[in-house]
Parts: sequence; structure tokens; C-alpha cells
Amino acid sequence: MLSIVTLISGRGSNFEAIVKTAQKEAWPVIFSGVIANHSAAKGLDFARSEGIPAFTVEHRAHATRESFDEVLIHKIDQLGADLVVLAGFMRILTPQFIRHFEGRLINIHPALLPQFPGLHTHERALEAGVKTHGATVHFVTEGVDEGPIICQASVPVLADDSADTLAARVLSAEHQIYPRAVKWFLDGRLRIEGNQVKLSPPEPQFFKYE
Ligand code: GAR
Repeated sequence: MLSIVTLISGRGSNFEAIVKTAQKEAWPVIFSGVIANHSAAKGLDFARSEGIPAFTVEHRAHATRESFDEVLIHKIDQLGADLVVLAGFMRILTPQFIRHFEGRLINIHPALLPQFPGLHTHERALEAGVKTHGATVHFVTEGVDEGPIICQASVPVLADDSADTLAARVLSAEHQIYPRAVKWFLDGRLRIEGNQVKLSPPEPQFFKYE
């Protein structure tokens, strides 16, 4: 049975969507642990309520990113992760961490990459006046938000949207596509070719939500 370790920084709703889909569809998977970078992350409560081991590695207790990431690597390895899922993990990871887990480290980003890498994506989408926004699940490589794309979901931007209403629409799309991407990985259906991800057998990797 494959093992998933999830890293979170906050609410953990994507983590929850993945766990609930796994339960509903009876995936042969073990959620070996959830790690947050501070103890107030709400998602830790959900993990505990599901009996999933919940840990905190306080980033503030570390003088450097390197020493924080070393502890994280050790913890994730102890848990025996086949797949590391970043679900709203708001720390930039060191090249050392990324190389250690390369090919089994995935992230969800709240924008249609390569549009709007980085932070405050919903505000920036509204400022740019785009008509379509969305979310991207991708393998993590050393360039921030640049790795091979596994799948994407688009949502419309409405005339009266605020950053909050847009974020909520994107988040509900995230909850649809992140579990799908994780399942594809677990089923061994993803192959990285250059900066592309091939899904076999093929099926659409772009989802349009109206
Ligand atoms: C999600 O919208 C996710 O895409 C975003 O943080 C939110 C976490 O929500 N991630 C990033 O911005 C990563 N740079 P959640 O804790 O409820 O899953």
C-alpha cells in the first residue's frame, strides 16, 4: 500500500478533500502523516479527528530554511512517504528538499500556471482583468510554481467578483482536481517527459467549471 505525507500551513481543505475522496472511493493508500509548519494550522484538527498522525515542525524554531527542511526531510522519510502532497504549504522549499523528493512531490497552486505564480493570485487576476482563472496541480521542481503540470481547472471570473468570491470558486475546483491528480499518481499513470506530464491511458487533464 502506498503512503502519502501531506504538508499544510493552514485550513487544510485540500487535504480534507483528498482524504474524503480516498475514503469514498476506498483507495488502497495510507495517510501516514500531516505536517504543519506551525501548531495553529487548522488542518491538524481534521487529521487528528481522522486518526491521521499530525505533527508540527515550527519553522520559527529554525534559523535557516536549510535546517528547517532537514528536519522535514527526516520526518517525511521516517513516515515512509511514497508521495508528498503540498496542500497550502506556504514555505519556499530548498533545492535540497526538492531534489530529495523530486518526482514524488506535488503541489496545488491557485492560478492557471504559468499565469500568476507566487502569492495573492486572486487579487492579481482581478487587477489583470482576466475572464478566466483557476488552479493547477504540478510536480514541484526548483523553480517556484514552474514544474510539469499534471492537471488544471478553470473557473470564470465574474464582473462583481471580489478576491474572496473568486478564491472560493477556485477552491471548490481545487477540491475536484487535487484528489484526481493524487489518484493518477497512486495508480502509476503519470510520467514526466521534460516539462510535460503524460497521463496514460490518456484522459483530459484540463477541467472547465462554469
Ligand atoms: C489553496 O487555495 C491552495 O491552492 C493555496 O493555498 C490554499 C490552501 O487552502 N496554495 C498556495 O497558495 C501555494 N502557494 P487549504 O489549506 O484549505 O487547502
